Amino acid sequence: MTKKLIAGNWKMNGGLDANQALVLELLAGIGQPACDVAVCPPAPYLGQVQLLLAGSKAVELGAQDVSRHESGAYTGDVSAAMLKDFGVRYCIVGHSERRQHQAESDVHVALKVQRALAAGITPIVCVGETLREREEGMTEFIVKRQLSAVVHLNGHCISEIVVAYEPVWAIGTGQTATPSQAQQVHAVLRAQLKAATEHAERVRILYGGSMNAANAAELLAQPDIDGGLIGGASLKAPDFLKIVAAAG
Ligand code: 13P
Repeated sequence: MTKKLIAGNWKMNGGLDANQALVLELLAGIGQPACDVAVCPPAPYLGQVQLLLAGSKAVELGAQDVSRHESGAYTGDVSAAMLKDFGVRYCIVGHSERRQHQAESDVHVALKVQRALAAGITPIVCVGETLREREEGMTEFIVKRQLSAVVHLNGHCISEIVVAYEPVWAIGTGQTATPSQAQQVHAVLRAQLKAATEHAERVRILYGGSMNAANAAELLAQPDIDGGLIGGASLKAPDFLKIVAAAG
């Protein structure tokens, strides 16, 4: 069985001092985790966090976004090759906050996934419905549409991705999906992956959205929940470490 993955998405938080304190506290407390662990700081701090993590096998480095272009006149973009230069192992792609605020379409997300894979970076592809979409009974349709764009463009490489189901209504709200609500959607995503690759069982499907030290164990016990993508709780080392321990 593949190891679970717990990834911390720091979003646009932190600074040199806070990052250092957080990483040092994580490294001091993590020991030898039974799962894979990653932290995803904002892009300007990748170099700092890379150095802080140097020598640790327990925590890997992730990024929060990648350009869909290879190189050139794209002011502000950061390419997959640049991320690779800083030892980035994972890259969040298509987070709902980027779909919403930066107008990222399914096709943009699929192109970013392609760039990450080509650079040897594992994309963590985020999908998830809004509250309105859930209320209208559209959840399955939305997550399948979002994932199918990625499957379509990345075909035979699809078993190399990580998927994160993040219901938009659960992000930063304290309103977590129940384990059975989450499992239901994860099963839909697993079935979709099975139709695309014989290695679908190997693809980790993370849950994200108000996952915390108190609710992680129950969510992670679901058969198709293979880890977590953690926002707020990843900024507090004791909480993040409890989630890591729950994934053991
Ligand atoms: P919260 O854990 O703060 O709800 O954020 C989840 C998330 O968006 C992770 O990418």
